[in-house]
Amino acid sequence: MPAQDFSAELARLDAAGLRRVRRTLDGAQAPRASADGRQVLSFCSNDYLGLAAHPRLAAAVAEAAARHGVGAGASHLVSGHHALHGELEAQLSEWMDRPCLLFSGGYMANTGVLPALAGREDAIFADRLVHASLVDGALLSRAALRRFRHNDVAHLRQLLEATLARRRLIVVDGVFSMDGDLAPLPALLRLAEEFDALLYVDDAHGFGVLGGQGRGTLEHFGVASARIVHLCTFGKAAGSAGAAVFAEASVIEWLMNTARTYIYTTALPPLVAAATLAALQVMAEEPWRRDRLVTLAKRLRQGCAGLPWRLMPSDTAIQPLRVGSNEAAMALAARLWEQGIWVPAIRPPTVPEGSARLRISLSAAHAEGDVDRLVAALVRAAEGAA
Ligand SMILES: Cc1ncc(COP(=O)(O)O)c(C=O)c1O
Repeated sequence: MPAQDFSAELARLDAAGLRRVRRTLDGAQAPRASADGRQVLSFCSNDYLGLAAHPRLAAAVAEAAARHGVGAGASHLVSGHHALHGELEAQLSEWMDRPCLLFSGGYMANTGVLPALAGREDAIFADRLVHASLVDGALLSRAALRRFRHNDVAHLRQLLEATLARRRLIVVDGVFSMDGDLAPLPALLRLAEEFDALLYVDDAHGFGVLGGQGRGTLEHFGVASARIVHLCTFGKAAGSAGAAVFAEASVIEWLMNTARTYIYTTALPPLVAAATLAALQVMAEEPWRRDRLVTLAKRLRQGCAGLPWRLMPSDTAIQPLRVGSNEAAMALAARLWEQGIWVPAIRPPTVPEGSARLRISLSAAHAEGDVDRLVAALVRAAEGAA
């Protein structure tokens, strides 16, 4: 078999129940979705606040396209930095009370910021369950990468005590993307202070959802510090796309000068910045969207209490139902799909071996009856599996 032929590798994925396939959406990203030609009730999306198809975001995009066209045409540092990008950075900075820098996505930010903040003589201490983009960013940085057990502050302390690195960077997800639980930020910040480290918080799933005003995990815990570098992304709760990194002014200036994924890529279309600006307005005017997620999560957890599978501990919009084997998770997702309900099965390497799960994502656009339908479908699936 020639080395260029990947069919045997693909067959291995098939045999392990790890082959991935896509479904195609042919309408808006919303709880009532049309996917692969079927009408389904979706619990797949990270559109937590139900803004991805919001008319105000769509109108902002249409207006920006009519006035400014589509493409940014160049990177920010060449000629792609538009007044709408500037306005978005200014509004975000005012809201978070910190300077920030836009990136074209969370993945781009993580793979650019970590190498800009840490290099060969440094060490990155990352939670075992951080998002893949953080692992990639850490590997690209060439810093020593140490992983600590999930949310295990004592283990992190041991690793920090043992390091001789010049600079230390602690890296966590604010809300863990496949688990829905939170990083213990107050304890992590205390360690960062004790060991003179920076704390990088990827808040892709906390931004817009957590905290009194939706500022994310830092606001939820009431923590703030010059040591914290805070990543927020706009493709999830904000219903748009892109990301921003918040930090002290000198860090932001350094990132603008050195983060390769900022420098060597075309800026996001200005119309995307217009969508995010509209999202910020809706988020401020409609706090009920965040409250609704709390109500829906409680309802789901009550409804699932008698199932043979356990919802993992989570108070957020991410409610993973732990199934175990890849095959069982795929079979359960298929049984729900047959009943017109779309929930993704998440398998390794996205989650640790043996912990395949259905990742149920709630949205403010869900009705309580939608959650009840999901629970009823799970009950039927459990009866079928018994
Ligand atoms: C924790 C986390 N960080 C970063 C990203 C990447 O962000 P983006 O989709 O904006 O590239 C994701 C998922 O997309 C994520 O779940």
